[in-house]
Amino acid sequence: MIHMKNITKTYHMGENVVHALRGLDLDIADGEFVAIMGPSGSGKSTLMNILGCLDIPDSGDYLLGGEDVSRLSDDEQARIRNKRIGFVFQQFNLLPRTPALKQVALPLMYAGYDRAERLSRAAAALERVGLADRQHHKPDELSGGQQQRVAIARAIAVNPTIILADEPTGALDTHTGDEIMSIFEELHAQGNTVIVITHEPDVAARAGRVIWIRDGLVMEHHDGHGGRVANPPLAAGEGGIVVRATAEEGGMPSRPTTERAL
Ligand SMILES: Nc1ncnc2c1ncn2[C@@H]1O[C@H](COP(=O)(O)OP(=O)(O)OP(=O)(O)O)[C@@H](O)[C@H]1O
Ligand SMILES: [Mg+2]
Repeated sequence: MIHMKNITKTYHMGENVVHALRGLDLDIADGEFVAIMGPSGSGKSTLMNILGCLDIPDSGDYLLGGEDVSRLSDDEQARIRNKRIGFVFQQFNLLPRTPALKQVALPLMYAGYDRAERLSRAAAALERVGLADRQHHKPDELSGGQQQRVAIARAIAVNPTIILADEPTGALDTHTGDEIMSIFEELHAQGNTVIVITHEPDVAARAGRVIWIRDGLVMEHHDGHGGRVANPPLAAGEGGIVVRATAEEGGMPSRPTTERAL
């Protein structure tokens, strides 16, 4: 459902030109759980902005569910975002002094729900992330992990098909990060496409596939269980790094189960 071909994005800063994406190819199937890794400055957030229709590429093709979204106006981008995409960020991006229920309900206005429906959907989303009893808490009355759960509730309240998360555990301790990843696993199990950008191998290991980005290009894909597979657009040998290993060799931990949260 996500098909990117030869995507480029260049930033101009006065005299300086930064080639953030340099002809990137990427395919992600419906319902996949993918981690995106790569060095700082390699283009991950730039890629996420384009994946999420927050920005458009300079050139290249991006098909989302068969629809060409690579050359949309701002309004058309907003329409796609409101319908299909939920965002989660490292710093939660919650409104200060706003209770959790309102926090989650507000963006539903853009999706056209009336007030009663906004509140019932927001309450349901908070329940899904295990925060039914924190509806009236403001961000400074919640722990970091709880704030991130409010942000996830906000992202899923419109029932998006794709969840995009940029370093969602980056501001959390390991244990809390694990809990947040369990929520993403549940969303994946319910059929959502989940794409998580991360610097942490433990976080990436929870995904079904790891996509490596370097210098604005996709390097290789892993299967998330220690095995590596070639980037689909590259034939064996073309990509430079094409290694195959079995799950046993990789020694990745098995998937933890979630009986909580969702
Ligand atoms: N709005 C912008 N204006 C100018 N340059 C930018 C802008 N956004 C990103 N860049 C540059 O584009 C390159 C890719 O940035 P990007 O934020 O996509 O990297 P990243 O992989 O997400 O890095 P990190 O892991 O540090 O978050 C970097 O060299 C960055 O400096
Ligand atoms: Mg980034």
